[in-house]
Amino acid sequence: MKTFIPYGKQCINKADIDEVVKVLKSDWIMQGPKAKEFEDALAEYCGSKYAVVVSSGTAALHLACLAVGFKKNDEAITTPITFSATSNSVIYAGGKPVFVDIDYETLNIDLQQIIKKINGKTKAIMPVHFAGLPCDMIEIAKIARKNKLIVIEDACQALGAEYRHQGKWYKVGNGKHSDMTTFSFHPVKSITTGEGGAILTNRKDLYEKLLMLRNHGFTKDHKKFVNNKPSNGPWYHEMQYLGYNYRLTDIQSALGISQLKRLDIFTKRREGIANIYNESFKDLKDYVDLPFVPSYAKTNWHLYVIKLKAEDGIEVKRRDIFNYLIKNRIGVQVHYIPVYWHPYYKKLGYKKKTCHMAEDCYSRIFSLPLHPSLRKADIQRVINILTESLRELLR
Ligand SMILES: Cc1ncc(COP(=O)(O)O)c(C=O)c1O
Repeated sequence: MKTFIPYGKQCINKADIDEVVKVLKSDWIMQGPKAKEFEDALAEYCGSKYAVVVSSGTAALHLACLAVGFKKNDEAITTPITFSATSNSVIYAGGKPVFVDIDYETLNIDLQQIIKKINGKTKAIMPVHFAGLPCDMIEIAKIARKNKLIVIEDACQALGAEYRHQGKWYKVGNGKHSDMTTFSFHPVKSITTGEGGAILTNRKDLYEKLLMLRNHGFTKDHKKFVNNKPSNGPWYHEMQYLGYNYRLTDIQSALGISQLKRLDIFTKRREGIANIYNESFKDLKDYVDLPFVPSYAKTNWHLYVIKLKAEDGIEVKRRDIFNYLIKNRIGVQVHYIPVYWHPYYKKLGYKKKTCHMAEDCYSRIFSLPLHPSLRKADIQRVINILTESLRELLR
């Protein structure tokens, strides 16, 4: 039987393993000096002032939303074509997610729709750089500034991606056009720590709050103590927020530091594969729309998402092609079911047909395997099987 080709997968080498083993042999395996080193490396790579590493991308989003401080009925505008952790985090923090429609070409949130949904209750905008393609952060920052809104970038898929402003390229996470940016280090992401995540920011107030929230809401900084008495001993600390244990271990951080050193190589490799796909699928344009990259952006090619173009029976056709690929051991995926379609959101009162473009795109999309460990023969197999399936099933 042919080997299964997953849509995403980690890429671990001996250097990664050696770094992890060094930590395992040391005295310190929980969060400690390696985590700080990883934070400094992430902040430097992205060009931000501060980074806080946490136990997952979801934890990063949760803490970012807590740091914002949603009050009852405060709203956060986001996209339905995302992993549900984006909007779930708003709910964890006591806010209300408001879903707005997406742009067909980029599959990212539609800026005009954001503007239409802003009202007196809007507190934040949470753009998601879907598939690693940056949203137009310059315009989003302008909308936020004009309406005094917080911006949290969900860049869980976008470490290494860039956008251009006035002739200069900025790494996603640089912090100049938002308040906080979150990343995920899940194994299918651009780098991995097994599970893990980070929040990057240029704001010292948020940075300090995030550090506390990551560790039960504790502070040991006497300048911040509510009860700062001379009798306080060296053990004294205060819990000032209801925080969590969202710490990333030094074992994971050592892996992250080592992986980050190869991020640009990973991204180049992904880009190379995407170029091969683009070239090979040029003749299939009657059947599919290929990923679109606007001139202001460099995607990190986290996902290679194509859209079927058929007019009638699209859902059945997409299912048949999906099944054909799986039967041939090609690990396609669909990213994502519109979040508000899930039964939990339905129970909260969210209704189908609120974001027409998102729902239409959902019926057409699927993601092909794309990760640095793909071999030439794997790439060719994906190309052959997809071409065969489209020609056979969409004839
Ligand atoms: C857009 C987006 N947001 C949030 C997350 C959550 O990240 P994690 O799986 O590390 O919790 C993911 C990961 O799948 C994601 O793709």
